[in-house]
Amino acid sequence: MLDARTRTADAFDPATVDVAIVANPPGGSLAGLPNLKLVQSLWAGVDRLLADPTLPGDVPLARMVDPMMNDAMAQTALWAVLSLHRAFFAYALHQREHQWQPHAQRRADEVPVAVLGLGQMGTAVAQRLVVNGYPVAGWSARPRSLPGVATHSGDEGLTRVLAGAQIVVNLLPLTPATQGLFNASTFACMRRGASLVNLARGGHVVESDLLAALGSGGLQHAVLDVFCVEPLPPDHPFWSHPQITVLPHVAALTDPRSAAEVVARNVRALRDGRPIEHLVDRARGY
Ligand code: NAP
Ligand code: GLV
Repeated sequence: MLDARTRTADAFDPATVDVAIVANPPGGSLAGLPNLKLVQSLWAGVDRLLADPTLPGDVPLARMVDPMMNDAMAQTALWAVLSLHRAFFAYALHQREHQWQPHAQRRADEVPVAVLGLGQMGTAVAQRLVVNGYPVAGWSARPRSLPGVATHSGDEGLTRVLAGAQIVVNLLPLTPATQGLFNASTFACMRRGASLVNLARGGHVVESDLLAALGSGGLQHAVLDVFCVEPLPPDHPFWSHPQITVLPHVAALTDPRSAAEVVARNVRALRDGRPIEHLVDRARGY
């Protein structure tokens, strides 16, 4: 950690740094720190950190896990699911066109939702949706069990989960196994007129395939918080697409008030020789 002796923006002695607390620093920032003992990510997703070839391979990497952040994610997912279920995005569009056009009102129990990824975020989201009356199915790499949620894993599980849902919420980490998971063939597995809520990473979605699926009526709507290129370029077709709702990567922000405690706990654990919490499994990529 940079302390009083080392803390100047440009000049510090790299040998005094033993903990790096980082969000997504420029590639190479963590190289050349000979006494580094812990990299603590301020983000839940560590795909960008892991993509830096100079990230020291032998230093433990911990990610941000904060119940406050999980709660924020559950709020965003509930907003998106509720808005799709009750056609609130359609009403916002109708208002701009001065159109008085009521839609049929479905009950929550008539709107099956799939949650892809049943980790910290996915579990909080699935539980929030269950409490709000939605039938929820979940998908994870390893078999999981979650009260009130029909859980699945593996390739066959993915097809089943996608085919059964009216709304699919993505909360997977971005890894080589999940990159581009939402593409023409997975969209073809989804119900005609289903919707996608991507709150995880832009790299999960093949953007041209999403536009094609929306254009053909295969998909009805997409709520996107994350994009292949961020900020989303001003001339990107998603901005003005009537079937796409854009958020600026805000589904669950790191909250310094609670995140600082998470970081302090891990720094204390390192200093005391206790186990570090929420270590990333580098072989799995999350
Ligand atoms: P997590 O606790 O590590 O959970 C990941 C889940 O995904 C686990 O259930 C895991 O399965 C599953 N999974 C991973 N690879 C899989 C695969 N190949 N096939 C099927 N399931 C797979 O992660 P988290 O804290 O919930 O965060 C998830 C992601 O949300 C982050 O990586 C980040 O990209 C994103 N995020 C976005 C925002 C935002 O503001 N938009 C904020 C925070 C996080 P197992 O349970 O079997 O391991
Ligand atoms: C945000 O996207 C995070 O991974 O924390």
